Amino acid sequence: MTEAAARIRALIARQGPVPWSVVLESALYGPAGFYTTGGGAGRRRDFLTSPEVGPLFGAVVANAVDDAWNRWGRPDPWVVLEVGAGAGSLAASVLAARPACSPALRYIAVERSPALRAAAATALPVEDPAQILGPQLGSTRDPDDDMADGPVGAAGIGPLVTVLADLPAVAVDGLVVANELLDNLAFDLYRHRRATWHEGRVGLAGAELAEVDLPAAADIQVRLRSLVPDPPEGCLVPWEAGAAGWLRRALAALSRGRLVVFDYARPTAELARLPVEEWLRTYRAGGRGADRLEDLGAQDITVDVALDQLGLVRAPTRVEDQAAWLDRHGMAALEAAAVRGWQAGAARGDLRALADRSRAGEATILRDPAGLGGFTVCEWDVGPDRSGGAGPAHPEPARSGGPPQQREPYGN
Ligand SMILES: C[S@@+](CC[C@H](N)C(=O)[O-])C[C@H]1O[C@@H](n2cnc3c(N)ncnc32)[C@H](O)[C@@H]1O
Repeated sequence: MTEAAARIRALIARQGPVPWSVVLESALYGPAGFYTTGGGAGRRRDFLTSPEVGPLFGAVVANAVDDAWNRWGRPDPWVVLEVGAGAGSLAASVLAARPACSPALRYIAVERSPALRAAAATALPVEDPAQILGPQLGSTRDPDDDMADGPVGAAGIGPLVTVLADLPAVAVDGLVVANELLDNLAFDLYRHRRATWHEGRVGLAGAELAEVDLPAAADIQVRLRSLVPDPPEGCLVPWEAGAAGWLRRALAALSRGRLVVFDYARPTAELARLPVEEWLRTYRAGGRGADRLEDLGAQDITVDVALDQLGLVRAPTRVEDQAAWLDRHGMAALEAAAVRGWQAGAARGDLRALADRSRAGEATILRDPAGLGGFTVCEWDVGPDRSGGAGPAHPEPARSGGPPQQREPYGN
């Protein structure tokens, strides 16, 4: 039995069946949790994500950082808060792309896992956070405190880079970016049986962990009835309170700018019609893992993000497929330049030509509609931009369907 499973059993023995969100917190982020002990994204870790395909994704994100910087009037400092930064691959690629905003840039890689924070700190040219954000770095921000410090420093001294364990206490001008973060935040499970919703908790059946259904709280019944008006008998859905809570905090971390979230996503009613294994998946060591109640702490547990539940917090300003978002931010141009570079340098076969060839291959992977290209990008604009636009006044509807969107097992 894993240490994380033993901890959950001890908790159940004391408290009775526990919510899935408690199991997930412990299995992913507890003392023996999957991320705590250094599991995660990367060719040498457990699964591939867009930044781990190669540097192209970061080069496109760098264009998006510049796009928002221009739109909000080129503030200095301009802060990128990358949340769920893992071992720092996306940060390294964005910085290597040298966006035009670099002299104004403060890049803050926010990562909950101490092991991954340490890895990011070796991959990035990090500085003391207080040098970048001032002394007020706690994770709870008092919204009435007008005196809270903002980013510090003279103009034109960027890029400055640091790593934090949580969102900073101060609100900033800039961009919050999160790639495949929300699918890893704690959620609960609800099952519809005999005309009512039940909470699927984790208890013990003899010596084994097993799901047990308890009556759902009245407020969740109301929410789920409106999100899933016609639930199939026996269907299961996630209630993603962790993602919703994070969205609230991330929006509060911006005084003006943009929040950009990349993930696999579907509406709750669509999840209700699918087998649970299609939207609640496990990964380890480059492939799919075991059943969700097995090997707790030794495998990742991830869920499709329920976009309509996020919309209850605030309707996004924009929702689009990742392939479309990448092309809107210049991936096609970067790809065309790489193809030209490879064609011109193929005979030489030098490192530059090989890098161009690899970049063209990355574009194909990132654009694949059955893979990473089919992911969803959700954006929330905060505060008036240079054109006077006041944020999410005209939200676009979330997509209702789409291709299968799943984390790429390692090597795919
Ligand atoms: C699926 S990984 C994605 C890593 C990286 N963004 C990538 O795309 O390769 C999710 C990461 O989010 C981190 N994480 C989870 N909750 C977090 C939180 N509240 N704040 C910061 N990081 C968090 C996890 O430790 C993990 O490294």
